[in-house]
Parts: sequence; structure tokens; C-alpha cells
Amino acid sequence: MNKIKRIGLLTAGGDCPGLNAVIRAVTKAAVNEHGMEVIGIEDGYAGLIEGRFHQLKWNDVSGILHTGGTILGTSNRDNPFKYPVHKPNGDLEFIDVFDQVAGNIKKLHIEAVIAVGGDGTMAITSRMMERGVKVVGVPKTIDNDLAATDVTFGFDTALVTATEALDKLHTTAMSHHRVMIMETMGRYAGWIALYSGVAGGGDIILIPEIPFKLDSICRTVLERGSKGKRFSIIVAAEGAKPEGGQLVVQRIIKESTDQLRLGGIGQQLAGQIEDRTGIECRVTVLGHLQRGGSPSAFDRILGTRFGVKAVELAAAGQFGRMVALKGLKVESVPLEEAVSKLRLVSPDSEVIKAARSVGVSFGD
Ligand code: F6P
Repeated sequence: MNKIKRIGLLTAGGDCPGLNAVIRAVTKAAVNEHGMEVIGIEDGYAGLIEGRFHQLKWNDVSGILHTGGTILGTSNRDNPFKYPVHKPNGDLEFIDVFDQVAGNIKKLHIEAVIAVGGDGTMAITSRMMERGVKVVGVPKTIDNDLAATDVTFGFDTALVTATEALDKLHTTAMSHHRVMIMETMGRYAGWIALYSGVAGGGDIILIPEIPFKLDSICRTVLERGSKGKRFSIIVAAEGAKPEGGQLVVQRIIKESTDQLRLGGIGQQLAGQIEDRTGIECRVTVLGHLQRGGSPSAFDRILGTRFGVKAVELAAAGQFGRMVALKGLKVESVPLEEAVSKLRLVSPDSEVIKAARSVGVSFGD
């Protein structure tokens, strides 16, 4: 087996805390342990398409472990197999620009690419492998929705942010005897809402995996009032929806690899709950606060372990694989496994049962 001398590294899709920990770990392990060079590709797959890159050396990655975002930049619009271009008449069309990518990889003498991203990025990375590029995937996302790993880095920091927000909302909810609704991110998975709701003592947690009934939510709010609790905290995942109802879509971004942007369920519920119960409601949409800021200790450690493992895989010639946390161990799985399905909350899971046991309502 020929020893890999030069790897490319990119971060793609929505950013999350811990990306810089991975960039640092990949670069340090590649240089120190394997004598490789690392080429940092800018703005995810956009950099590979447009030929934007720079070499990463020890000094470039020193002092970034605790920082949020990604020093390489990222993009969730640039899929080489479905690249959005505007025609002269303004219409949008999607074209395959893989040849451009292959040309840049050759020009840069990159022998393998480590791609850090979520399910969309892993699907692109898997196709790159099919077209002959040697790849290794590293899973990231605050949504925690990748099936092939027990946890993604970024999730823990988002959870800490959401839990701290709930602690703050509690005090003002109590003072004003209001219903406070906090809307979290997470797309089609309810992990952030569920875990922050449990950690932050939410009274009602609404997640996509358990469709809610408005009646049930209002009953819980009123029952709490009759027991002397004149406020309620509702944590609603952006993907939560009523039984037989639809997701609330905030906007559609045609150029994006995942076109739907969810959001607005909190505001919708506030009006309905206020009408039915007569209790004042307020909404806090946490939004991109969940994606920003310094990574938690857990995410720094997981990012470091994932980065080192990804380089090990590349050095061992094990391509087409994604690093994954299985229990307490960092292992690897085939990329196809990573993109085959989303990791959703199971309504029968132990954590849901525990939440119900301490009186949490899921609005069902
Ligand atoms: O997948 C991460 C995520 O933050 C989702 O939770 C959210 O729905 C989406 O990305 C927001 O995307 P954007 O940054 O494009 O608004």
C-alpha cells in the first residue's frame, strides 16, 4: 500500500461547535504521527469546486481548540453533483461539476479527502467515493440525527446553550405567570428539545417523533394552574407538528442541499394556547445561538478523538468509512450506513419514559 502523503480537509453543511477541534486534531495527528501534509479546503465543497484552499500547518491550528465555528469556513449550498447555477434568464439549474472537483484534487496532489459534515455532506462524500475519490467522513451536527453514530459533536454544546436558556426563562415565567415557549433547532429530530427539556425542567416537550394535540397541551397548562403553578415552560422542536398536521416551514432555499428551513411552530402555538387558556404566552426562538460559541468539554474531546481516528483510517487505507462513537469507543462504519437513515428519538425510549415519570407532558 502506498503511504498517503497529502490529505485534503473540508468542513461542510451547517457549522457547529467542535469543528475547530477536529481541524486541529486532523492536522496535528497527520503532521506529527504520519508525516502527511494537510490542505485545508475553504468553505466546504465550494472550495473543492472553485479551487480555494491553503495548507494547514501546526501554527494555523494552534490555539483554536476552544473556539466556535470553523477556521476553514463552510457552505450548505455547494453539492458537486447538483451545483446550483443561474441561467441567463434567471432560472436556477443544477449541474454536475464533479470533473472540476476531480481536476482540483489532481492539481493539488491530494490523495484522500477528510470531509466533516452532517447527513447531506456524508451523502455527497459517499458519491465522491463512488467516482473514485478516496474519502473519510467525520460526523457533525447539533441535530444529533446521524444514524451510524451514537452522538455527533456539536450536540452537547447546543444542549448546554438550550438548557441555560430554559433556566433563564423559568425565572421570568414565574414572575409574570406566563406560558413561555422555547423553540429549538433539530430539523426532523427532537434530540435538542428532548434533552434540554429534561435538563431544564420543561413542563411540556414537543418533538417531531410524538405528534401533539393542542387540547392536551392546554389541559396540562390549566391543570398546572389549578395546582398553584401559574406558569408553564414548553420546549418545542422546530419540527414538532400536531397530530395529522404539517411541519411549519419558515422558508425554502432552492440552492441549499436541504431546501426546507423549519421554524415558526412556537409562534403558532402561542396564539392558539393564549386563545384557549387566556394565559399570556411569550416565545423565544433560540435559532443560531445553538450553533455558535465555544464548544463544551465533551465536544472538544469527541472532536479530537474523531479527528485523530479519521487520520488513522486514511493512513491505514480504510476509505469510504465514517468515524463513529459506538458506546464509549470511537470506531468506523461504512459511509452508506451513515446516510441510510436519520437517527430519530424513539417514543418508547427510556429517556421519554423517565421524563413522563417526572410529570413531563409530550402533548400526546
Ligand atoms: O442542521 C443544523 C441546523 O442548524 C438545523 O437544526 C436547522 O434546521 C438548520 O441547520 C438551519 O440552517 P441554516 O443555518 O441554513 O438556517
